[in-house]
Amino acid sequence: MKLTFLGHAAWLLEENHTSLIFDPFLTGNPLASKTPDEVQPQYILLTHAHGDHLGDTIDIARKNDSLVVTTHEIAEMLSQEGVKTHSLHIGGKFPFDFGFVKAVEALHGSGIPGGHAVGFVVKFFDRFIYHSGDTGLFGDMKIIGEQYPLDIALLPIGGNYTMDIEDAAIAASWLNAKTVIPMHYNTFDLIKADPHAFVTLCNKIAPTSKVEVLKPSQNYTL
Ligand code: NI
Ligand code: MN
Repeated sequence: MKLTFLGHAAWLLEENHTSLIFDPFLTGNPLASKTPDEVQPQYILLTHAHGDHLGDTIDIARKNDSLVVTTHEIAEMLSQEGVKTHSLHIGGKFPFDFGFVKAVEALHGSGIPGGHAVGFVVKFFDRFIYHSGDTGLFGDMKIIGEQYPLDIALLPIGGNYTMDIEDAAIAASWLNAKTVIPMHYNTFDLIKADPHAFVTLCNKIAPTSKVEVLKPSQNYTL
């Protein structure tokens, strides 16, 4: 399984002939490592509809006939744009060819009138990945960590709109993932953060997790 950081909260997950993208904000993303034409995902997982997550979803989905998995309200909006969707809601899980996607709580806005933001727990073949989406720290992350043997947790550390380094390190201590990878920082001035300070803090309070800091375009294979 290969996980590639596309910048901000956008990630490409690939295994054999299956590919999945989280929150494909590429056009206008100063850290984007690919253009929308360079990705051909079968699945797009969209945590919420703020511009820095919705990004190129419609364009990529139309070109590749990708299935967009997101919340009901955002799925309705995308269906009207001619995009193929599957809607989930908080706590809901559905099987796909590669495993399953479960929508989990995120403390954040949906980005459209009504609806919610979510995070995703994804079983991708034999691996478990948690993409928290944009979120503040919440105690039920402990349940996610107890319920699933997470291989990777992707967590925002930029603050202002989401958890900062301190809150994300507490999240890491609860999630107990084998590997934690920070995201959603340094894209804009408001979300500046030092990922190496995050590593230091995690080593102290979440010592069972290994932190990998990826630059956009870098990938992590497991
Ligand atoms: Ni947001
Ligand atoms: Mn965001």
